Amino acid sequence: MSDTEAPLGPTTWHRHLFARVERWPWLKSLEESVSAVSQPLYDRHRDNLVVELMHGGRWAGHSLHAALSDLPIGFWAGTVVLDALGKDEPDGRGGLDAAGTLSAAGLLAAAGTVATGFTDWTVSDGDDRRTGLFHGLLNLAGTALQGASLVARVNGHRRPAQVLGLASMAVTGAAGYVGGHLVQGKAVMVNRVATTTGPTRWVQAVEESDLPDGATAGVTVDGRQVMLHRSGDVVHAIDDLCSHAGALLSRGPVEDCVVTCPLHESKFDLRDGRIVRGPAHHPQPVLPTRIRNGWVEVRGSLPAARRKKN
Ligand code: FES
Repeated sequence: MSDTEAPLGPTTWHRHLFARVERWPWLKSLEESVSAVSQPLYDRHRDNLVVELMHGGRWAGHSLHAALSDLPIGFWAGTVVLDALGKDEPDGRGGLDAAGTLSAAGLLAAAGTVATGFTDWTVSDGDDRRTGLFHGLLNLAGTALQGASLVARVNGHRRPAQVLGLASMAVTGAAGYVGGHLVQGKAVMVNRVATTTGPTRWVQAVEESDLPDGATAGVTVDGRQVMLHRSGDVVHAIDDLCSHAGALLSRGPVEDCVVTCPLHESKFDLRDGRIVRGPAHHPQPVLPTRIRNGWVEVRGSLPAARRKKN
């Protein structure tokens, strides 16, 4: 059996499903059309603090969209429960009964959820971008159904309102499943350096002469990808994989000890790893460095036992 015929390991129905979704031609062309409009807009406003706040970024520590998305789902689930228990308006007088109030609150929350989700989507890539668009389309459909349900409810059409509300909940649940796949199945918006550790001893990374003042290098030490940057006598080292989506920071420009990610242009301070500008949510881990015998050496976190002694 040749290498290309080697089995790829166990697969699942959901992997098959999403592989199929990512190949849909209409989704691909829609993604290209939306990107043609959204990307220049995002690029023009990426320095705006409101845009960074929409990501959640360095202030929230994770995506704002993920937190907001719980609100419409919760409100609309409440509507379905009230409908099922017959606790919505029983006499057909219409108006905003308890179920209608929850429906309307969910629609208000959905506006923020859509806006933040769209902002996050603009900094996704490749297959994830198509799956993300599918997630967004399902959410828009669920929101439209909920809007129609609310209109029917306000006009006293109780049964159609219940059916539309139930359909909205089903479609929104499917959208939530796709969103879960993006985060848990594909690690979108997940901290890519959450588990990087080591090396637990000083390791030679690069010869000092190969890293002159102002130079940047990407190296691998004990399996950990590290970005080195020399500023005078000081060598800074941070994880090379960007915490946002795993691009190699050593390929980005450095100015005043701040590196710009080449993929979505998050900025990190090399001195302490802090985020200077999102969309990244998590700072870059910093590694200690030293110069010994003509070599730049780095090490990762100290073993727990030694850390206690210090
Ligand atoms: S990979 Fe997205 S900002 Fe670095």
